[in-house]
Amino acid sequence: MPAQGLLEGKKGIIFGALNEESLAWKIAEAAHDHGASFVLSNAPVARRLGALDGLAEKTDSPIIWADATDDEDLAKLFEEAGEHLGEVDFIVHGIGMGVNVRKNVPYEELNYDWYKKSLDISAISLHRVVHHALESGYMADGGSIVALSYIGAQRVFSKYSEMGDAKALLESIVRSWGYRLGKRGIRINAISQSPTRTTAGKGITGFDAMFEFGEKLSPLGNASAESCADYTVTLLSDMTRMVTMQTLYHDGGFSSMGISDELVFDLVEAYGEEEDQ
Ligand SMILES: NC(=O)c1ccc[n+]([C@@H]2O[C@H](COP(=O)([O-])OP(=O)(O)OC[C@H]3O[C@@H](n4cnc5c(N)ncnc54)[C@H](O)[C@@H]3O)[C@@H](O)[C@H]2O)c1
Repeated sequence: MPAQGLLEGKKGIIFGALNEESLAWKIAEAAHDHGASFVLSNAPVARRLGALDGLAEKTDSPIIWADATDDEDLAKLFEEAGEHLGEVDFIVHGIGMGVNVRKNVPYEELNYDWYKKSLDISAISLHRVVHHALESGYMADGGSIVALSYIGAQRVFSKYSEMGDAKALLESIVRSWGYRLGKRGIRINAISQSPTRTTAGKGITGFDAMFEFGEKLSPLGNASAESCADYTVTLLSDMTRMVTMQTLYHDGGFSSMGISDELVFDLVEAYGEEEDQ
């Protein structure tokens, strides 16, 4: 898709680019193409993978390492980012991890320390990020904040387990901050994205089945990471300045479907047609 300069002159911080598959990686590339300048951030443990250096070079962005569950790290990050960028017009929160999910612990048997860690990383970190953005004094009036969510916040996808709770909390934090940020014209939204083949996505047991189900149910098919990046750019731009506190479905229509002919066909194939009464 040709770049249109929707973010010309805008400055931001993008959290969560781990490798080329990451949603935040694609968002950084698209934001760069649209004229934004930004700081990249990820957890210090991601540093040893070394992949982020390539994106930093390509988009001419500094990397500031910060654990998004650590207040000291975040305070330091906003201080350094502010010194580098000046006022920050946008923030992208592309952070998530389900510890029990990763370790294959079922919902009925959750390890509560890991559960708390999952909520802290995947949801409460958004609260912290916004808090430190405001506290630093570098968040610009009229700015835009975007977090990435999944429809597991509203509906049960059995293998998504604790992450459904984390996304429900994340979307609630979006609304709660949205009210408070509105006084300064700052908006905050969650994009509810289709299953996407990323490190976090593929870490979920049954991901391939969820992906296939999404592909067959959604009239437009699953939304790709690239299309998610394009959509995110619109939300970071002034074109959407009156949109806030929303969970916006970027899912090819999945969220409005019940069943599709394709899935009916698959079920008939698997279980056979019912005999006429
Ligand atoms: N992939 C999907 O199917 C899908 C669908 C909907 C929503 N999402 C959401 O999109 C967001 C980005 O995930 P992704 O799919 O691009 O996968 P990803 O694995 O590429 O990104 C997740 C990122 O979170 C970072 N992270 C983990 N713990 C952190 C911490 N303590 N501090 C800072 N960063 C930390 C990781 O290093 C990684 O960069 C997540 O919120 C995810 O839940 C993903």
